[in-house]
Amino acid sequence: MANYTLPSQCQLLEQTSQLKALMTIIRAQDTSRADFIFYADRIIRLLVEEGLNHLPVVDKSVKTPTGSEYQGIDFKGRICGVSIMRAGEAMEQGLRDCCRSVRIGKILIQRDEETHQPKLYYAKLPKDIESRYVLLLDPMLATGGSAMQAVQVLLDNNVREDRIIFLNLISAPEGIDAFVQRFPQIKIITGEIDGGLDDNKYIVPGVGDFGCRYFGTD
Ligand code: URA
Repeated sequence: MANYTLPSQCQLLEQTSQLKALMTIIRAQDTSRADFIFYADRIIRLLVEEGLNHLPVVDKSVKTPTGSEYQGIDFKGRICGVSIMRAGEAMEQGLRDCCRSVRIGKILIQRDEETHQPKLYYAKLPKDIESRYVLLLDPMLATGGSAMQAVQVLLDNNVREDRIIFLNLISAPEGIDAFVQRFPQIKIITGEIDGGLDDNKYIVPGVGDFGCRYFGTD
């Protein structure tokens, strides 16, 4: 986005023509649900692969079938996913496709009708989450309200702030700024940064309601 200075904690996926074409499909209002799911899943896969690049590694050498050594690496820490329901659940399969039998927790946060503040309704997390790196999953970073509340749940469960990596497809500058100000040690990986929010706090140009388009609800 023009004139927006990306904080160092936020990393934009490489802006390739492939990513732009995938984004164009999911943003179009007349894209069918089947195509929305298929192409959103492709972007999610790119986000997960990039997220995994931010995990610590150790040296590891293996012997190849030619009998020679290959100096490689191995992932050091254990990970888990945590999806922010409901839209974040759309990102779970992409994580499973890359990390077989990965544990995935869930957090449900909804806006309180009276206070208009995000309210925690449900959280179910892996028991040993404090010893893991957490890939936090939510496709749209709008105001950042739900994401920040979800992070607070993780911190209350003794997850280290610097072990959380937040993956989302599209962000608004307002959401990024609020999030990094409150949690400066968390890395955000995002697919694109849009212009801002409309009066209903939807990202513009955005995709509309991601969860409704992905899960086929109104
Ligand atoms: N959630 C969505 O699904 N879309 C937005 O634009 C913002 C939040």
